[in-house]
Amino acid sequence: DKSGYKHFMAKEIAEQPTVLQGALAHYINADATGVALPAPGLDFTKIERMTLVACGTAFYACMVAKYWFEQIARIPVEVDVASEFRYREPPVTPGTVALFVSQSGETADTLAALRYMQGKASKIVSVVNVPESSIARESDLALPILAGTEIGVASTKAFTCQLTTLAILALNAAHARGQMDDATLAKHLADLRSLPGILNLALGIEDKVSSIAAELSEARDILFLGRGAMYPLAHEGALKLKEISYIHAEAYASGELKHGPIALVDPHVPVIVMAPRDALFDKTVSNMQEVMARGGKVLLITDQKGATEASEGVWNTIIMPEIDPLLAPILYAVPAQLLAYHTAVAKGTDVDQPRNLAKSVTVE
Ligand code: F6R
Repeated sequence: DKSGYKHFMAKEIAEQPTVLQGALAHYINADATGVALPAPGLDFTKIERMTLVACGTAFYACMVAKYWFEQIARIPVEVDVASEFRYREPPVTPGTVALFVSQSGETADTLAALRYMQGKASKIVSVVNVPESSIARESDLALPILAGTEIGVASTKAFTCQLTTLAILALNAAHARGQMDDATLAKHLADLRSLPGILNLALGIEDKVSSIAAELSEARDILFLGRGAMYPLAHEGALKLKEISYIHAEAYASGELKHGPIALVDPHVPVIVMAPRDALFDKTVSNMQEVMARGGKVLLITDQKGATEASEGVWNTIIMPEIDPLLAPILYAVPAQLLAYHTAVAKGTDVDQPRNLAKSVTVE
């Protein structure tokens, strides 16, 4: 039942504040001072490295998590797509925790990668939406993301719930490893608990996004740029757009632009820059200016501070609420999803059942 929404995807985007609240309540204790993981838990003090494996959108959640685990918990992290990982048969060093992310819990390549790691990794952890799935059952520790049933083929609420669960896990790891004191942990957990309200605010950009999308729907190619943990978000924005609007979209790390893709820039290729006003903002803005100097048409997604500093000369700006920089990737999923959704609606494609795609990919 679409509860009055035109598509399941629209309903699932709008549901995010509510389902996130449930996930947060599940993992964060009531006074927001600590994290509760299901038994048998995970001893982060003994971890030497983590290997994160998934497909598609779940893989982009892993890419974000790499920034978190490395930056705040100082755990070396490797990420890979399951179809590459499983056949590469990588050597596994002692103290490696393998973590698999999957909405369905049945993705064939992810399950095969998990089975490859059984008996090699010191622990198999999964982050899943379907608790009775094969991936959950074959893990030592299965962490539910509590997104509820996702029907739209393009994953939306599962992505933000995956990110939220992974953020909580990274904070837990940072604290356990002595990289984060009690007060800082409590601050981040309190910020996490304000996320549903912030996401609700962010959903208010919808009218603006739909007018931008009317123009984007005319494009043949679109580039997404981001730096740091916004780089995986650029990938997620490009994937979502390709899947449901069939417009060719590519994501690049902002700093890679001048190593090739800048040759694509002309007034007919919109460039979407995802850049909250964080420590990397100035670097991204200078890449954005290189695009504009070559006639590129830039859509800047940033916060009020970022817009004040850098919106001169851009084609359009989407302003997001201010947020703890650590949690920005969760918030910036919303404009990525809404841009894809409204562009697809403008094109008249089948949003919930895009051509050639299946919700659960149980064959490789
Ligand atoms: C994108 C999308 C796919 C899935 C991928 C993995 O919108 O839905 O890229 O993310 O097929 O599926 P799960 O998470 O079920 O393993």
